[in-house]
Amino acid sequence: MKTVVCPGSFDPVTNGHMDIIRRASGLFDRVVVLVAANQEKRNHFTPVERKAMIEKVLAQDPSMSNVVVDLFDGLLVDYIAACGASAIVKGLRAVSDFEYEFQMAMTNHKLLPQCETIFFTPSPQNMYLSSSIVRQVGGLGGDISSFVPSCIHDEIRAKLLEEHQNMSR
Ligand code: PNS
Repeated sequence: MKTVVCPGSFDPVTNGHMDIIRRASGLFDRVVVLVAANQEKRNHFTPVERKAMIEKVLAQDPSMSNVVVDLFDGLLVDYIAACGASAIVKGLRAVSDFEYEFQMAMTNHKLLPQCETIFFTPSPQNMYLSSSIVRQVGGLGGDISSFVPSCIHDEIRAKLLEEHQNMSR
């Protein structure tokens, strides 16, 4: 039974994230999407909101029945060791991601030598996509319908607009 963990902030989850999760679910027996804490980033959606949105998207796609979502605010390698996962799966969009992702992969491997990181290249239509782009465009009322799954679009849009309005007051 090969379990992989797909960790991230998912603040919010995008079509790019879901593409990586979908492809991992086709290759491995079980995928744990781990909504984890990134100390370097300020959160916009709460961890519970982020987890619930991913679960809502998964519930609409029976082909991903081997995917579960979990929350964790500790060290990633501790989670990996505790659940016996074979590897971490991450998307690597562009050269700009490389240094940061390489550093994390190397650190995780140093902390837990059996911990491998597998990088997936994104589908071409998602190369440029990120949660921060979604937040910027959505917060200013732009069209994010091609960036995020349709079943959570309205919820994301409403929250980003509300946050932007509160900041402008
Ligand atoms: O989507 P992100 O923000 O690029 O994901 C980064 C994340 C959450 C995977 C990373 O910050 C992480 O692993 N956080 C858990 C805490 C931890 O183990 N940090 C050390 C990583 S080397």
